[in-house]
Formats: sequence, C-alpha cells, structure tokens
Amino acid sequence: MEAIIITIDGPAGSGKSTTAKIVAELLGYIYVDSGAMYRAVTLATIRNKCETIQQIVHLLNSLHIELKMSPFGQRTFLNGEDISEEIREPIITAKVSFISSIKEVRTAMVDLQRKIGAQSSIVMDGRDIGTVVFPHAQLKIYMNASIQERAKRRLNQMKSKYSESTSDISEITEQITHRDYADSHREIDPLKAAEDAIILDTTVMTIQEQCEFIVKKAKQLIYNE
Ligand code: CDP
Repeated sequence: MEAIIITIDGPAGSGKSTTAKIVAELLGYIYVDSGAMYRAVTLATIRNKCETIQQIVHLLNSLHIELKMSPFGQRTFLNGEDISEEIREPIITAKVSFISSIKEVRTAMVDLQRKIGAQSSIVMDGRDIGTVVFPHAQLKIYMNASIQERAKRRLNQMKSKYSESTSDISEITEQITHRDYADSHREIDPLKAAEDAIILDTTVMTIQEQCEFIVKKAKQLIYNE
C-alpha cells in the first residue's frame, strides 16, 4: 500500500508536536519531529564552537542524525549519542532559527526527512513540511493559536519540565515572537501555510479536539470513510 504522509506545520506553541504524536499513534503511522533535526544540528555547531557559516556547512558532513522509537517515545541521536533532552535546552532554542536559515542545513535536513517519508506512513511536524518537503502529502494541516495562548502553553511546558525555571510570561512571549518572525521571514523555505493546507486555530481547542479533527479529516480524505 502507498505510504501516507500527513504534514502539520505552524509556529512555536501551536500544539503541533503533541497533536502529531497522538494522531500518528491513532492511525498507526510513525511520528517524525523535523524540528528535532534542526535542534540536533544547532547542538553540534555549539559543541564544535562553529563561528562561521563555512564552518557550519563543513561540519554538516560529519553529522549523523537519527530519530528512533523507544519505550519512552521518540529519541533523537547525534552520531550515536542520545541528545533528546539536551536539544530542548534554552540555548538551543535561542540559536535554532539562525542555524535553520542556512541553505545547506535545510538541504541536508529536507533530504533526510524525505528519506524517512519514503519508508513508511508518517505524520511529520515542522515549518515547511507541507510547502517544501512533501508538497504532495495526502493531508496538510497548518496549526496556529494566539500569541498569548502559545506563550502560556510554552511556559506551562517549561515549568513542568524544569521546576527551577525562572522564565516569566513576558520573556516567553518575546522569545516566541522573535522566533516566529525569524522563521516566517527567512529567505529559504519560510514558515507559511501551504495553499492546500487546512488551517486549524487551536486557541480555544483541547488536544483531544485537535486530534479528533485531524483523524476525522484523514479518514475522510485518505480512506474515503
Ligand atoms: O517545538 P517548537 O515549536 O519549539 O520548535 P521545533 O519544532 O522544535 O523547531 C525548532 C526550530 O527549528 C524552529 O523555530 C525553526 O527555526 C526550525 N525548523 C525549521 O526551520 N523547519 C522545520 N521543518 C522544523 C523546524
């Protein structure tokens, strides 16, 4: 049977990854977090003290990035090392938009994403998945929510993960606004909804409602149910 691709794009805190994980599980597909790949490259550039774009591009050839399933969910590996926790650190979040704006970085990650998509049915979330990586995906969703709601969600997520976190709502709002701007104004493959994407505003939706909506659409469009 033909591999099915569902793309979920949108800005930070719109609920993409939580929703994509559950939708993939409900449909029996594989979830692929494309942002984790850009975060892995960002970590490698920091560890290798890259100071120029040339150094970053050179480093790319020595990076082996893998996403693997484990009993604890999907894990990200960089040259065999599990870096799933480290790539969520604020220092990575602060630098990832710059690293992901580099043409060669995008080309390498898009290649990797397409290879994964060729192997099985997937739900992949990111910024350019429906527009660039899989323009012929069977179902494309673009998720959004108000900046206030997205900042609130990110703050709650950080507080539950890092109990010692001292971030406040205004700081998170500023960081997200800055990252949204960088991601949607970059020259190559900016964040935007594909013309044929279904726009889903999740400001007042629960995770369960979001997942039910997407699974229903998938069943209608892909399986004619
Ligand atoms: O989960 P969150 O919304 O914080 O971000 P992420 O999905 O982990 O992505 C981190 C960053 O990677 C984004 O802010 C983008 O700069 C970049 N990214 C991208 O350029 N293209 C993608 N397909 C996915 C992520």
